[in-house]
Amino acid sequence: MKEVKIGLLGFGTVGTGVYELLRKNINLIEEKVGLRPVIKKILVKNLNKKRNVIIDPHLFTNDINEILQDPEISIICELIGGIEPAKDYILKAFEKGKEVVTANKAVLALCGKEIWENCTKRKRFLGFEASVGGGIPVIKTLKEALIGNEINSIIGIVNGTTNYILTRMLENNLNFKEALKEAQAKGYAEADPSLDIKGIDSAHKISILASLAFGIYIPASEVYTEGIEEIELMDLRFAKDLGYIVKLLAFAKKRKDKIEIRVHPTLISENHVLTSIRLNYNAFYITGDFIGDVLIYGLGAGKEPTASAVVSDIIDAIEYFYFGKRPFIRYPLTKNNHLIKLRPIEEVEFKYYFRFSAIDKPGVLSKISGILGKYNISIASVIQIGRQKRKGSVPIVMLTHETKEKNVNKALQEINKLDVVTSPTKKFRILD
Ligand code: NDP
Ligand code: HSE
Repeated sequence: MKEVKIGLLGFGTVGTGVYELLRKNINLIEEKVGLRPVIKKILVKNLNKKRNVIIDPHLFTNDINEILQDPEISIICELIGGIEPAKDYILKAFEKGKEVVTANKAVLALCGKEIWENCTKRKRFLGFEASVGGGIPVIKTLKEALIGNEINSIIGIVNGTTNYILTRMLENNLNFKEALKEAQAKGYAEADPSLDIKGIDSAHKISILASLAFGIYIPASEVYTEGIEEIELMDLRFAKDLGYIVKLLAFAKKRKDKIEIRVHPTLISENHVLTSIRLNYNAFYITGDFIGDVLIYGLGAGKEPTASAVVSDIIDAIEYFYFGKRPFIRYPLTKNNHLIKLRPIEEVEFKYYFRFSAIDKPGVLSKISGILGKYNISIASVIQIGRQKRKGSVPIVMLTHETKEKNVNKALQEINKLDVVTSPTKKFRILD
């Protein structure tokens, strides 16, 4: 059986998973594809690192040229992460006539235009299924299964680490640090976990999905982004008492020719299907004009699921390289960038959860509600949790009816200056 030689760049969580999958299921794949994908070389940073798998040490190199210059290697899997040297290696691989598979959302979200243009110019293949949703075939769903649809919206839980943290905090009373440590130990977090917890990784992913869905390149810098670092356990609990679960959601919506693209923690009503997506699971709720609503979910981070997506792209790369099978969408840019109109978050209306920290004395609530009224913010319900016996502050939780973000920002600025308010108000948006 003919062998297809692959060069792996990176042998961390994902690289190891790809190696293990190919070792375990090689015969199965060979039977289905008619060719045998074989890893010929693996680029790592540290040749002396102890690896937790049984592997021929001669496979490793720390010299990229051993892979790029090898005419036998036709497919390169970039599993290093970050911008450089990943981007440089991808572009050089195209230059050398190799197909590329990557799990790297950061490089696609920040340098996607240059990479795609280069891929197209050199008539090469770029597979990036693993860059969004770990093992979930969301890229293929958008590029292939839903190709005939105008996509109206995508709402997703797109980061495994933050979903894991929020689930463990609420369900097992873990504090933020403990939950993050677990997510790191399980291999879900980025090398720099602040990318996960600040919402940046989610912004990278929704930027890639929006580009595919709407046919325009929306760089991650255009995504309004908030992370979960401000969330306290008490907010998760108060929300739960009110019938909501807090999730970090990513949104890409097209409304009246404007696109809304954002990432932020969101309260979701407990009977919404997205609240059942726990731990390192991800989910994508996609709405198209003919298909209606589609929900796909599965494991969004971790060694095995991500390896599954990378190997699926390797097979597509083989089909392209050996059988000339043309990918469905070669390039996500079908419209000119100057035609994009993004709706700023200040113009969007939401229902809100506020948690004020205020001194427990008569008249406080009327001061707060007076300011809210001045900005046309209508209160749906108020709960003061507990009574402070000694001098100090109490949490007051409030839900609002729909109101514009810009009014809320102005009102909270004024409220936070009141002498009875002891710390900045927490604000979370509610999924309607
Ligand atoms: P790891 O940090 O576990 O592994 C990175 C690998 O890259 C290591 O083997 C490291 O070498 C190697 N490496 C780092 N810098 C260099 C360099 N300058 N030159 C050569 N090799 C280098 O990352 P992951 O496997 O977790 O992630 C890889 C990619 O996959 C990232 O883009 C990530 O965002 C993405 N991804 C990760 C998922 C996950 O669940 N972990 C899921 C989906 C996508 P050494 O081993 O010697 O240190
Ligand atoms: N750090 C990412 C996450 C890996 O937690 O979702 C998967 O892309």
